[in-house]
Amino acid sequence: MSAAIDAEALLEQAKAVLRANDVEGIFIKPGTYQYPHQWNWDAALVALGLSHFDRPRAEQEIRSLLKAQWKDGMLPHVVYHNGASDYFPTPDFWQIERSPNAPNGLLTSGIVQPPILATCVRLMHERAKDRKASLAFVREVYPALHRWHRWLRAARDPENTGLVAIVHPWESGTDNAARFVEPMIRVIPSRVPPYQRKDFLHVREDERPIQAEYQRFVYLIDLFRQWNYDQETIYARSPFLVQDTLFNALMYRAQYDLRMLARELGEPTEELDEWLATTRYAYNARLWSEAHGLYFAYDLRGQRLLQENGCATFIALFAGLASEHQARRLVEEHLLNPEEYAPNGTRYFVPSQAKNNLFFEPRRYWRGPVWILINWMVSEGLRRYGYHELAETIRQHSLELVQRSGFMEYYDPRDGTGCGASGFSWTAALTIEMLAETMMPA
Ligand code: GLC
Repeated sequence: MSAAIDAEALLEQAKAVLRANDVEGIFIKPGTYQYPHQWNWDAALVALGLSHFDRPRAEQEIRSLLKAQWKDGMLPHVVYHNGASDYFPTPDFWQIERSPNAPNGLLTSGIVQPPILATCVRLMHERAKDRKASLAFVREVYPALHRWHRWLRAARDPENTGLVAIVHPWESGTDNAARFVEPMIRVIPSRVPPYQRKDFLHVREDERPIQAEYQRFVYLIDLFRQWNYDQETIYARSPFLVQDTLFNALMYRAQYDLRMLARELGEPTEELDEWLATTRYAYNARLWSEAHGLYFAYDLRGQRLLQENGCATFIALFAGLASEHQARRLVEEHLLNPEEYAPNGTRYFVPSQAKNNLFFEPRRYWRGPVWILINWMVSEGLRRYGYHELAETIRQHSLELVQRSGFMEYYDPRDGTGCGASGFSWTAALTIEMLAETMMPA
């Protein structure tokens, strides 16, 4: 199937997408129309892509995000640098002024997103040509990164289990993934405030979350704002409380990367060492199912594993959390299984939901489409565990998808047609990242 990749053309197009989505040099919006503000993990990935050709602009992206850090260390999932737009939730919907921790003078959401920022900062630093300037940047942002991770442990793991909880599916970054179906059934949206969905303005309705989910998304936000974003109350009372596979894997990887930065700065590492040890132990003790050969999220409210087979299970490879045995099972029994993830009937790696999962839908958001971010993390994870050929296949599939269908938010794994938002920034940023391996030797 392998199509020849015109790397130079693709690189230029990817840079053009990032440039076009740049809002006044302050932040890069995730998509041309659908997402007109700054998103937490999108910003980190965008900075990673930018760092290959415009390091100062990459630093600016991170500074803009960190400006929105809450006083207690929380790094919000959306920052509305430019006020309201046609996007829902609008900034005023969050009512963050109810919290004494909200940042001064900036509008943000009141929940978080996967902590991939420290990882991106470390990757940027490793490859920086100007070591001194890069170290100065690391020194500048390190305290904020550390505070963010300390907040995660304190606010979202008050029982010190080693695993942090998310309180809203949006916090997972994979909003409507099948692993949230069961815990969301338990959320009864008894009193939903008036709101108007705006996510169909630019994207087809059948590629977005269904209405029953959306009602619950809004209901949860309403609870949190009524509780003034007090994290103790949220942890104690949120009807949705999940120790997520993807979120905790990325937190672990970020803690590891933060530790590398700490060492370079001569900062103490004891606290990070302890976090790493407890997360590593808990992740494998609680989330691994030897019976299935898969990692599953854990539902703290239902007190059970959410046994849905989806792409989040592979992020443990990216994080280095899996043993050789676990990696072998994940890859050989699942990733390479044509009924689950490997091409057969579909053409492209890696569907976001196993194809034989009850909830699989090849064009609906996180229920099946291929996402370039997931492909990148899976491919990097495979390399870590020595699966070089498979890693290369997935990288190749990713570049083919982009070349064929443009910089889309996600792709149909059957035929590679694009879905969701167009002009999608992290697709562009990670295209640059993936091309860098062959075009721009470090
Ligand atoms: C969607 C994705 C989320 C992403 C956001 C902006 O909500 O699920 O992960 O950060 O779009 O791109």
